[in-house]
Amino acid sequence: MKTLMIPALLITLTIGVVSPAARAAVNEDECRTTIANTCTRCHGAARICTKLKDPAVDTQKWRETIARMGKKANLDQAVQDTVHGCLTTAADPAGLVCGK
Ligand code: HEC
Repeated sequence: MKTLMIPALLITLTIGVVSPAARAAVNEDECRTTIANTCTRCHGAARICTKLKDPAVDTQKWRETIARMGKKANLDQAVQDTVHGCLTTAADPAGLVCGK
């Protein structure tokens, strides 16, 4: 029984790592549009970029910052969640927001 479980476990792990469906994929076009329409109205993207480059800024900090911005700008929770996903789970958030 044990000998069967080890390969089964390895297969499960491999599928989990390789399969793109296992990652919550963000729609990069939607990210660009949403951030351009909702986040760079008041300040430049540079403000977001500075924070993206700060390793101390984790998903929780982004949650707080976006909630603060959401209050200023009256942003729907859905929009805040979209932006949060873009800034924390995109393959290259800085590439999305700051350009190359
Ligand atoms: C209504 C105007 C407005 C909108 C819209 C807005 N911001 Fe801001 N943002 C500000 C102001 C004012 C500050 C500086 C004061 C502050 O930090 O609260 C700021 C500061 C920031 C900072 C720096 C804060 C820090 O703690 O270093 C970040 C990052 C940021 N905004 C991201 C965003 C994102 C992401 C969005 C889109 C969800 C957004 N902003 C939308 C007005 C806005």
